[in-house]
Amino acid sequence: MATAAVPKVLKNFINGEWIESSSGRAFEDRNPANTDDLVGMFPSSTAEDVDAAVMAASEALKSWRLVPAPKRAEILYRAAETLVRRKEDLARDMTREMGKVLAETRGDVQEAIDMTYYMAGEGRRLAGQTTPSELRNKFAMSVRQPLGVCGMITPWNFPMAIPSWKIMPALVCGNTVVIKPAEDTPLSTYNLAQILSEAGLPGGVLNVVNGEGPEVGAPLVVHPKVSAVSFTGSSEVGRLVNEACAPNFRPCHLEMGGKNILLVLEDANLELAVESAVWAGFGTTGQRCTAASRVAVQKNVYKEFLDKFVERVKALRVGDGLDTATDMGPCINEKQLETVMKYVEIGKGEGARLATGGQRLTGGPYARGWFHEPTVFADCDPKMRIAQEEIFGPVVAVLEFDNFEQAIEIANGVVYGLSASIYTRDVNKAFAAMRDLHTGIAYVNAPTIGAEIHLPFGGTKRTGNGHREAGTAALDFYSEWKTLYIDYSDRLQRAQMDG
Ligand code: UN1
Repeated sequence: MATAAVPKVLKNFINGEWIESSSGRAFEDRNPANTDDLVGMFPSSTAEDVDAAVMAASEALKSWRLVPAPKRAEILYRAAETLVRRKEDLARDMTREMGKVLAETRGDVQEAIDMTYYMAGEGRRLAGQTTPSELRNKFAMSVRQPLGVCGMITPWNFPMAIPSWKIMPALVCGNTVVIKPAEDTPLSTYNLAQILSEAGLPGGVLNVVNGEGPEVGAPLVVHPKVSAVSFTGSSEVGRLVNEACAPNFRPCHLEMGGKNILLVLEDANLELAVESAVWAGFGTTGQRCTAASRVAVQKNVYKEFLDKFVERVKALRVGDGLDTATDMGPCINEKQLETVMKYVEIGKGEGARLATGGQRLTGGPYARGWFHEPTVFADCDPKMRIAQEEIFGPVVAVLEFDNFEQAIEIANGVVYGLSASIYTRDVNKAFAAMRDLHTGIAYVNAPTIGAEIHLPFGGTKRTGNGHREAGTAALDFYSEWKTLYIDYSDRLQRAQMDG
């Protein structure tokens, strides 16, 4: 069930043109549900290609920064319209290269649509402050200025949504962009760039350079003409990006790991909590940074919850995401599958009880893909590695707690702080949790996944470095404040001294 009309050999997008890499080499984009299905060949780019892209972006900046923001936004509106029109094809391309089920890839494209419309709206806001001066006949205000060329490195789990979270605010603020999409999912960024280009984005304003981290990402983040970097991915690579940006004091936004928890108190709507834990744990095959890879349940309802949860997880249908009967697709690639298998062994070795799953799926419909059973470990200790480390796969650790205080302690007892959720009907506990969960996002009676684009997205502790994307918070990363004072008194007025 291949998607039609995808050219087999795809190119980089530099200075408004689709061009090959200087390396002459290419890498394969294969379907993780069926590795016989070659989605496309993409250029294995080099530092030379990165340089060409950054120089094009730097040149384009000269005129793009002067285009009035409402006019920049009109291009985004047009792109959003195309995204709406082509949503189904884009979702199919994405399922084919990434594996998650069609309903989810439609959601991913929808998230890009939402972000594009939202940031287009910002074209007529981009608000600063006007505020009185302390002196007579003097005017004071602050305005947002673009940073310059923004370098972006994006992951494979949200192949269109996450690039849109970065590209759209950057563009509306007047920056130009060089993006390196994940090697596993280059087609979705290709599609997005093509749509923006068709919508009238001038050449050089957005550039896409495909390839590996060391060959493309590394030269991109240190290029002297790059003014800011935004990275979403693993904490290991995030640290490298951070270190590379530090010597040049280059603003750097990092969005990294998570070990998100879903807390179930004894007064919770248990059916709802079970359904939510299944969705948050195994949606996107557990490959969301917001995934609930930990579920902690209060003693009195622990057994009942666990039985129901395991029963529901066992019923999940694993398969090709293009098949509408599928609930959960494959892991993204062999390496990720191996990580999952490694953690299953770690969990067993630590003495966690394997309640369901635990095996790679092979043979029959699974023969050519990276499939793994949805897996639940019960009776986990909060200190176990499977309850502490990000696995990024279909593995959920279930823990038991006695009281609310203990639940919060378990929730906060990890190095990450992206998302958390609590199921309770006790308004006092809900509010205490909203205050005490040390995460960037917290939910009450809703799963850990499903953030909306017009609110800040990001995490505390080792999940991030203090910046947020989405919402107006994104504008704060992609613009710099300039404070302007206009004195119309025609004489020297000294602040803090005269008047
Ligand atoms: C991610 O997993 O990297 O909140 C992003 C969510 C989605 C975005 C997830 N809207 O689950």
